[in-house]
Amino acid sequence: MLKVIGKIVIIVSEKNIFSLTNKYYSYVFRVGDGGILEHIYYGSSLKNPNNSVSHHYQTHRDGVLHFQGKKNYNLSELPQEYPTFGSTDFRFPAFHCKNSDGNTATVLKYKNHRIIKGKNYLSALPSARGGECSTLIVCLEDNLHKIEVDLAYTIYDNYGVLVRSANIKNNGNNKLELNNIYSSSIDLPASEYEILHLHGSWSRELSEESMIVPSGRFVIESNRGSSSAAHFPFIAVCEEQCNEIHGNIYSSSLIYSGNHSISVEKGEFNDVRLLTGINSFNFNWSLNPGDNFQTPEAVHVYSKNGLRGMSNIWHSFIRDKITPKNFNIKPRPTYLNTWESSYFDIDHQKVLKLADKALSIGLEMIVLDDGWFDRRIDDSSSLGDWYADAKRFPDGIQDLAIQIKRKGLKFGIWIEPEMISTKSELFKKHPDWVLKAPGRIPSLGRNQLVLDYCNADVVNYIFDKLDKLLSGGNIDYIKWDMNRNMSEVGSPVVSAKQQLEVPHRYILGLYSLLNRLTKKYPNVLFENCASGGNRLDLGMLRYMSQSWPSDMSDPIGRLNIINGCSYLFPLDVLSAYIGPSPNHQNGRISSINSRFNAGAFCAAKGISLSDSDIDNNANELAKLINFAKEHATDMIGGSFYRLKKSANVFCWQYITKDKKKCFLLYFHILSGPNEPFQHIKLVELEKNSKYKQTSNGKLYSGNLLMENGFTLPYVSMTNDNKSISYMPKGDFSSKLFVFKKV
Ligand code: GLA
Repeated sequence: MLKVIGKIVIIVSEKNIFSLTNKYYSYVFRVGDGGILEHIYYGSSLKNPNNSVSHHYQTHRDGVLHFQGKKNYNLSELPQEYPTFGSTDFRFPAFHCKNSDGNTATVLKYKNHRIIKGKNYLSALPSARGGECSTLIVCLEDNLHKIEVDLAYTIYDNYGVLVRSANIKNNGNNKLELNNIYSSSIDLPASEYEILHLHGSWSRELSEESMIVPSGRFVIESNRGSSSAAHFPFIAVCEEQCNEIHGNIYSSSLIYSGNHSISVEKGEFNDVRLLTGINSFNFNWSLNPGDNFQTPEAVHVYSKNGLRGMSNIWHSFIRDKITPKNFNIKPRPTYLNTWESSYFDIDHQKVLKLADKALSIGLEMIVLDDGWFDRRIDDSSSLGDWYADAKRFPDGIQDLAIQIKRKGLKFGIWIEPEMISTKSELFKKHPDWVLKAPGRIPSLGRNQLVLDYCNADVVNYIFDKLDKLLSGGNIDYIKWDMNRNMSEVGSPVVSAKQQLEVPHRYILGLYSLLNRLTKKYPNVLFENCASGGNRLDLGMLRYMSQSWPSDMSDPIGRLNIINGCSYLFPLDVLSAYIGPSPNHQNGRISSINSRFNAGAFCAAKGISLSDSDIDNNANELAKLINFAKEHATDMIGGSFYRLKKSANVFCWQYITKDKKKCFLLYFHILSGPNEPFQHIKLVELEKNSKYKQTSNGKLYSGNLLMENGFTLPYVSMTNDNKSISYMPKGDFSSKLFVFKKV
């Protein structure tokens, strides 16, 4: 059967070979003789993918094991689509479940398949949007215990993306215990690979690390309840010698905000297995007869053009198919956030005063961060109550918002709806509404406990509180924070036997709340935050248009974070502000200009400065904000490139979608005397067009900028030879160039 849908081809041959092909890649597998789904090929697009089976190797090693009596056939080396445990494959499986006999031996064999136009959507979990795509669903069955697994594969016309998920059904008469249920497994052929992944902690999120794939199993995972800054749910498996421009890359992420696991296992025959899904550590799910379990979606990006090619695909896919449609092509308002400007020392009058300051330098929104609700004068109290502090905000939030809006500004507010302070009315009333393990003292994190989102009453209570806040219609933006990891995880509303389901049930509760709220308030701009980037993932971005990637507002710290982000996330989803100097996180002193430049390509830009800082730098701030506003539309939907990153230099390019404007940012950390010049080669310009450097009117051909490059660090005369412009002297300095097509 040949199915051509748009520009995608899904072929199912008489020999039961399945191939998914678009212009970016082919993905091929087949039903082996014994019914096992055997993986054949994943890589650049093939003209005749079904022929790839002739290159497929069979296991002819005469090992001691013969799978189900089949001579010379065992699963220990065989690339598979959804490997199980208990038979002849000893690698970490995609599926591991205890059946009613008490063992975990499972054999999943092909049962049937179907192809749907468009995409399947997951119930209770966020899914990537469909559109011009089609989905192959292959049903596997364990005949003995009547376990059915639907593997879904979505391929798109216009993206090098494969979306996979699995749905497990218990068609038997006995309960099953699911231990691992990965969303996807990809067996790559034996080769030398490198891994790139992103790790970190508070204020130093998204640091990149690369290493050769070792023999054994390398795992990034979270068991903190959120996807975490420790290990972002993202891995790129790169073929040896891969770099920004060249090489095959297989990358993976998960549309999920809870405990994830992505592992890369190099087996005894150097074969490599990439598993992506919910973390199986401390996880167990009881599947009653007739029930099913849906995994989150794993998203895979294949690039044959190195890291740059990979990032381009992620960026466009996340922008087009993940982030909310209402904002994904909208410029974001410039803003003043009260956090590093005032911390908890905030009240009605101060907000109004800051609003006037914001207006005076051209900002468009004021965001009232933490500290606005009852008795919230530090971080020890009142989370969960969510009404304005009567002393400091006597007119309430709606009234304040109206006053702000009368001035011509938008109004945004900070909330942390998943948390509860022990010093709160809510805790007095409902001490059982928290995650806790019976008999244990729950550990506090930032003086707070985590609300039990497994409990529908809790979720409804928070929905009502937020509904009340938003229904006044005066709030344009919400910063949704989550400031601690989960400990002593247990829920009083879940049975003792099912306690290991709690972290996943929590995430389902969170998604149900986000779903209701964002559906009811589609015009409110939601920003995701979790002590900065402790929950920056595709799951949250499915509901929220932007994310605060880190509390690190120092430009050098921020550059690293944005660079890490850029492997996966388009800068359309990031916010950045000019914070104080010396920086409150690392004490570094830096110029306003460099603080702005580090975040110049992020879609949402603002400041968080005190009155006096604003007064002392008003002219410079006004200029920068004007620049941000002038280019707000440009910073959505374009392409971002990492041109250079060394120990001392960051050089990035951003080009608008229509290629009419190109921005080049050069940043050096420490300055040196008498620096050699470098020719930084720009990319993706129009070869035959001319580009004018806006600061001095100089013209360059696209070809020249791409082939010969632009000379940095910068020293240049103006066209009329009247003045010389330099790269600013000193450490932590930067220069941002704008080129306009003429
Ligand atoms: C977290 C966020 C900050 C700020 C504070 C408020 O740390 O990352 O940006 O909102 O909470 O308490």
